[in-house]
Amino acid sequence: MSIYTIVLLFLFHSRKRKFYITTMVSLSFILCCVLVSSCAYATIVSHDGRAITIDGHRRVLLSGSIHYPRSTTEMWPDLIKKGKEGGLDAIETYVFWNAHEPTHRQYDFSGNLDLIRFLKTIQNEGMYGVLRIGPYVCAEWNYGGFPVWLHNMPGMEFRTTNTAFMNEMQNFTTIIVEMVKKEKLFASQGGPIILAQIENEYGNVIGSYGEAGKAYIQWCANMANSLDVGVPWIMCQQDDAPQPMLNTCNGYYCDNFSPNNPNTPKMWTENWTGWYKNWGGKDPHRTTEDVAFAVARFFQKEGTFQNYYMYHGGTNFDRTAGGPYITTTYDYDAPLDEFGNLNQPKYGHLKQLHDVLHAMEKTLTYGNISTVDFGNLVTATVYQTEERSSCFIGNVNETSDAKINFQGTFYDVPAWSVSILPDCKTETYNTAKINTQTSVMVKKANEAENEPSTLKWSWRPENIDSVLLKGKGESTMRQLFDQKVVSNDESDYLWYMTTVNLKEQDPVLGKNMSLRINSTAHVLHAFVNGQHIGNYRVENGKFHYVFEQDAKFNPGANVITLLSITVGLPNYGAFFENVPAGITGPVFIIGRNGDETIVKDLSTHKWSYKTGLSGFENQLFSSESPSTWSAPLGSEPVVVDLLGLGKGTAWINGNNIGRYWPAFLSDIDGDNTLVLFEEIGGNPSLVNFQTIGVGSVCANVYEKNVLELSCNGKPISAIKFASFGNPGGDCGSFEKGTCEASNNAAAILTQECVGKEKCPIDVSEDKFGAAECGALAKRLAVEAIC
Ligand code: GAL
Repeated sequence: MSIYTIVLLFLFHSRKRKFYITTMVSLSFILCCVLVSSCAYATIVSHDGRAITIDGHRRVLLSGSIHYPRSTTEMWPDLIKKGKEGGLDAIETYVFWNAHEPTHRQYDFSGNLDLIRFLKTIQNEGMYGVLRIGPYVCAEWNYGGFPVWLHNMPGMEFRTTNTAFMNEMQNFTTIIVEMVKKEKLFASQGGPIILAQIENEYGNVIGSYGEAGKAYIQWCANMANSLDVGVPWIMCQQDDAPQPMLNTCNGYYCDNFSPNNPNTPKMWTENWTGWYKNWGGKDPHRTTEDVAFAVARFFQKEGTFQNYYMYHGGTNFDRTAGGPYITTTYDYDAPLDEFGNLNQPKYGHLKQLHDVLHAMEKTLTYGNISTVDFGNLVTATVYQTEERSSCFIGNVNETSDAKINFQGTFYDVPAWSVSILPDCKTETYNTAKINTQTSVMVKKANEAENEPSTLKWSWRPENIDSVLLKGKGESTMRQLFDQKVVSNDESDYLWYMTTVNLKEQDPVLGKNMSLRINSTAHVLHAFVNGQHIGNYRVENGKFHYVFEQDAKFNPGANVITLLSITVGLPNYGAFFENVPAGITGPVFIIGRNGDETIVKDLSTHKWSYKTGLSGFENQLFSSESPSTWSAPLGSEPVVVDLLGLGKGTAWINGNNIGRYWPAFLSDIDGDNTLVLFEEIGGNPSLVNFQTIGVGSVCANVYEKNVLELSCNGKPISAIKFASFGNPGGDCGSFEKGTCEASNNAAAILTQECVGKEKCPIDVSEDKFGAAECGALAKRLAVEAIC
């Protein structure tokens, strides 16, 4: 008889049912532990319709996305620690298949691809992990995380019931799960990971896959389940998620989301803190107030798990940016900026919200819920347990502020905001009232000693003559091929070359000739007989185009050489993997003779292909002669400003930091080399290195709050402005108002804060003296120099 049956029998013969039920659960748990071999600190992660439960307790869980390959290993401990200090319980990451399996069955977990090290860093910080394996991840990552060799396997179809695809997906998912299990990183093994994800937003595209799509998602669920990770699996944006998969919401607002099963808690896997950026696009911005509103509203409406996408966006190093046209920066306007600095006031305002929500955990997850409707889109929600009540008052009206009488007290609730009253009496937080400082970041010139203000450059041309003149590549085909198929996406660059023999009497020959190319290349350069006849850069979104340029062809052999350049492969949408890349054709020589137009189709000619450029192949980026500079002083993040240049790739000390755009580097020391590959021309004389840090901080805080001024690890050097009363203006142009406290606020703050790295300030009349402002709410405005 097994231990399990003994326990059951025991239970049946007992009158103390409750006690023995508990015993049974823990005994069977011990049994499980014996089976999974080690579980000294195993955590049971489960769920009910209300919340994720950890060791039987319902939890309010706040989480933030940090993707390990988008920063350097040296940055991880600091980023994760800042997440914890910002009030997060968990860190979420995707797993990036194409980075880990760049070649079929050859794996890479080195450097910033060391997933295990990243997860252990989370564990060391005492936080939970959310592992979104995908392995399709979207994420503005090249090809959504799919390796391009996968596309080139025979009979392959992505994200459907295709045996070849399912085999590869299962193989990679299993490898990841086994690696993580081996290191005992699932909560069921005593590790930090409390949730795992399979697929990603398949529900958004399932309609395009018909019945096969439904069967595929069922297969995903079964496959994930069979991996036995001991923690719940989630599927985001999947409103038909098969049980026991938990479906979750992604978006700017998820307060109106309801899961497809009463036993699934209301969970939000992606609260977009900003957005990604495209080349040529604007820097996206989402206001702090709106992010906070969305979160507070979600918890007002019974949400219990929320993850910021992104908490730290970071950098798309090398060729990892997807798109097409996703930039090298993936800053995302996240609470931690691309360089790992606090993005204030977003970071601080959300930290305060997390603290308030955590303090209400028990009431939010166990309390009875009732709502009061005040009309005009204003509602109050009361969470009530025997010990305590906690309340939210939400005003979803976008334009009108509300003044309401709730349980005998008047509350001002600004338009599009949520007030939180942890005891249902005192408003301790309102999403629209920011009581955190704003940090103004500044870039400063490199201050290394003896460093000349401009860099010294040497340069070499990309030697293309031999290729151009011979027109010979590595492979030859009688067809124009998709760039992915020929190059396996090993480079942005692919040469298409052909030789056309024209007889003296060929009717196409004449004065008025051109080359016409139907193309999807993101950038195209065309050469005829070694002469550059023109180039084209396609506008974002208009990827199918016809390029036509006058050209001179001669009787005899003519060499046509086309350079096709991709700027990131697509990462989103049904069948995105089949979106053409490169010169898809047809390609024509056009001759015009009076009224007559003669068209010569070259599409089925013998085309010769060559992947990459010789500078890359010869590793020019690791040679001794490029620009060298001394590391900037201090520990602030370093950015390279590529002002004056066009488009290309940059390397620092041999590391590809990405297609042009400033990027962070953490371990710059001693002499460092910068290599640029410039594709269209530019002037490097303006290129320079800068450090980035906080220049000044400002705040405009209501009374009865504690303001923490901080210069991010540097001492505060001066108080430029301070006023307690009803000051006006904005950061940089604050002015005193009509009522002003009796004590000199600037003098008080100068004494208390200057020279300190952090300075907590009690914003009250006690501190600054009485101010006769009548019914106006009093505020402290301050501008400090770092
Ligand atoms: C979601 C997707 C994420 C990311 C985000 C936009 O749809 O799941 O991976 O692409 O959009 O940044």
